[in-house]
Amino acid sequence: MQRNDSHRTCEEDLIHVMGGNHLTGTVAIGGAKNSALKLMAASILTSGTTEVLNVPVISDVTIMAEVLECLGAHVVRGDHRLSIDTAGVDTWETPYELVARMRASVAVLGPLIARFGRAHVAMPGGCRIGSRKLDLHIAGLETIGAVLEIDHGYINAETPNGLHGGSITLEFPSVGATENLMMAAVLADGRTVIDNAAREPEIADLANMLVEMGANIVGQGSPVIEIEGVSELHPVTHRTIGDRIEAGTFLAAGALTGGPVTVVGVDPQNLEVALAKLRRMGCEISLDVDSVTVSRNEPLRPTDVQTLPHPGFPTDLQAQFMVLDSIASGSSIITENVFENRFMLASELVRMGADIRIEGRHALVQGVSGLEGAPVQSTDLRGGAALILAGLIADGETVVSGVEHIDRGYEDYVGKLASLGGMLERR
Ligand code: UD1
Repeated sequence: MQRNDSHRTCEEDLIHVMGGNHLTGTVAIGGAKNSALKLMAASILTSGTTEVLNVPVISDVTIMAEVLECLGAHVVRGDHRLSIDTAGVDTWETPYELVARMRASVAVLGPLIARFGRAHVAMPGGCRIGSRKLDLHIAGLETIGAVLEIDHGYINAETPNGLHGGSITLEFPSVGATENLMMAAVLADGRTVIDNAAREPEIADLANMLVEMGANIVGQGSPVIEIEGVSELHPVTHRTIGDRIEAGTFLAAGALTGGPVTVVGVDPQNLEVALAKLRRMGCEISLDVDSVTVSRNEPLRPTDVQTLPHPGFPTDLQAQFMVLDSIASGSSIITENVFENRFMLASELVRMGADIRIEGRHALVQGVSGLEGAPVQSTDLRGGAALILAGLIADGETVVSGVEHIDRGYEDYVGKLASLGGMLERR
């Protein structure tokens, strides 16, 4: 892949944060990681050059580009855009080395089955935030005619009689399963209905791109998605929606430090529940078509948070809100319903003086008057971003290691926080 970006996956793996910050200003939000990766995978459904615009410069995108190249695609990266030429895609095998580096690689499963009638994709296994099974992907693909078996850590998929329409009810509205099923069903023979589908905005973004490519899909963004298969799709140019999780992270930064902080380049409707929580915590929120401003002039009020599939509170903002609750004036309960092991941040925050107790799926947070800077370890993407936020309000210096997790999903996180007045640097 040709690159002209300034992304650094280098040896500089510590972020030093000086506490006591007051962030103000405006920050531009990039394209959604969780959309861009799937839009890239969807390019396999057709032969020719797909252009994806508003692509963030993050390491997960680099890995997905490698996955596509490994399948025979030619990927050229421009300024926040990717040209993906899939004419040369001639294999349906995705090796473990790539899938192990990024679970979202499994998004190529549906497109490969749809285009080639077969796939040989490594099983990603679990990760730190949970076991993250694929049973819903597999059962759904079997309903529409794929025959799948797990063999030596790989999913082998074949379609002896081709893909056909079918009626699928997901036990849980899995984002990844909904996307894989949509991408397989668009080229199946007949009508597929996905009931209890995930409703995340990124699902609608993917469905909209598939429709632009010639697919016949209705209901995206609702719990019932209906797909009438077509015989072929064509390449398109598609712009990725703004990243609501990146936006929510910077709004949390504004709420923690007082703001005003404005995020631009995101649809406020995609952040509704998180914005309602910020208001309940004592923040003032103002909205425009593609921007949100947060400010706060009173102490943070404790607020319970319960993560749920969209439109519920997003699990990807849970860690950032744990930092907010950790300095609120009272106690709150955070309940994680989506992933079984997503409280790893808590023990690091406790090292910074927070009062947090974990009881199964619940975190009991007793607000403290302030946090103290400390050396801490980032163990996952959102937890890492949240630790930097904690460092911004702590007393003294916080040194965050494991920052490669943050690079997976935030483009120039340090630079953007510094542009708002944050005192932090990566070295
Ligand atoms: C996606 C997002 C991730 C977000 C999550 C939930 C990407 C690249 N990642 O992950 O940032 O936190 O949605 O909004 O888009 N499950 C099963 N069986 C399955 C599939 C899922 O049991 O076949 C379980 C998982 O173990 C997990 C839960 O369902 O506990 C949610 O998973 P899912 O919605 O599929 O999330 P991802 O697509 O992995």
